[in-house]
Amino acid sequence: MYNFNITLTKTPKEKPELNDRLPFGKYFTDHMFIMDYEEGKGWFDPRVETYAPLSLQPATSCLHYAQETFEGMKAYRTCDDKLQLFRPYDNFKRFNNSNARICIPELDVELCVQAVKTLVNIDKDWIPAYPGTSLYIRPFIIAVDEQIGVHPASKYIFMIILSPVGSYYPDGINPVKIYVEEKYSRTSPGGTGTAKVGGNYAASLLAQKEAVNKGCIQVLWLDGAEHKYVDEVGAMNVFFVIGDEVVTPSLNDAILPGITRHSAIEVLRSGGIKVTERLLSIEEVTNAAKTGELREMFGTGTAAVVSPVGKLLYRDKEITINNNLIGSITQKLYDELTGIQTGSRPDKFGWIFPL
Ligand code: PLP
Ligand code: COI
Repeated sequence: MYNFNITLTKTPKEKPELNDRLPFGKYFTDHMFIMDYEEGKGWFDPRVETYAPLSLQPATSCLHYAQETFEGMKAYRTCDDKLQLFRPYDNFKRFNNSNARICIPELDVELCVQAVKTLVNIDKDWIPAYPGTSLYIRPFIIAVDEQIGVHPASKYIFMIILSPVGSYYPDGINPVKIYVEEKYSRTSPGGTGTAKVGGNYAASLLAQKEAVNKGCIQVLWLDGAEHKYVDEVGAMNVFFVIGDEVVTPSLNDAILPGITRHSAIEVLRSGGIKVTERLLSIEEVTNAAKTGELREMFGTGTAAVVSPVGKLLYRDKEITINNNLIGSITQKLYDELTGIQTGSRPDKFGWIFPL
């Protein structure tokens, strides 16, 4: 139905060892998808080419004003050697929401999914098979007007690149330590927190650097207005097991609506676990830790998968959760979700798209 111009590379790269020691996001496959946009013409010339450098003028607008959006999803090789995508339509619907927020023209979701399928099939030999590995798919759009002036651009490039990956955190599924950030904000009411735009991540870097200096891997962002309520972690949404229920901050105008978050809620509920989406203050979390009611904490994300949080660093005091061990609810969720993604468990929710 869609006609992509395909030019295969004449110089395939040497592949890294596709085992469980693969770093996150360091290697890229042989090909990339690319499509242009011009005002009056719309999106045109969808094509697959050799993964190669771009040529941009120094005045290209995205380099100055960060008119850029991106997505993150994965392709998996199952134990019986089939290839599959997880919820690609949801990613591209969110992509369009991000695009709308920073005035990037809408994309045809079906075209995007077909582009991913075409590209992944071409580079399918790069999809690793080891447990904990996958092919990370990074669609993104940059504004490419050659003009220094702040306004929505009239030209864009949409691209998709692929990277075989292992776990996002160096210690795999082992519990991570997170810094509770009270000074900096990632976003603010009315800001761009719900959109996956590069600028949000640039704004997070200083806090993240300071957190790393304190021995933490990422930052737990509190609301930008009062620094009182829990929003999310740098690259994942967060969940707390308090007593017998799982609590996660309800979506607001600052939190990225994670596909994994949504999936986790459905998996947990279908397993009979009560999940509540509500306003959650950091005070309630620290009090629950004191009384022993805080039994587990974990984050969810495409890159981070389901990641237990073993320690919080809050006002220079360390709070240890579940003796810094992975909890039973976190483990069950990890097993079920990764089982569905990698084909070892049935896809009862209809989230899998075979390639
Ligand atoms: N929050 C932020 C800020 C993220 O960058 C991500 C990663 O994409 C997530 C949450 C999790 O979203 P998803 O589960 O769709 O990957
Ligand atoms: C993802 O999980 O897909 C993300 O985009 C997080 C990223 C910052 C690696």
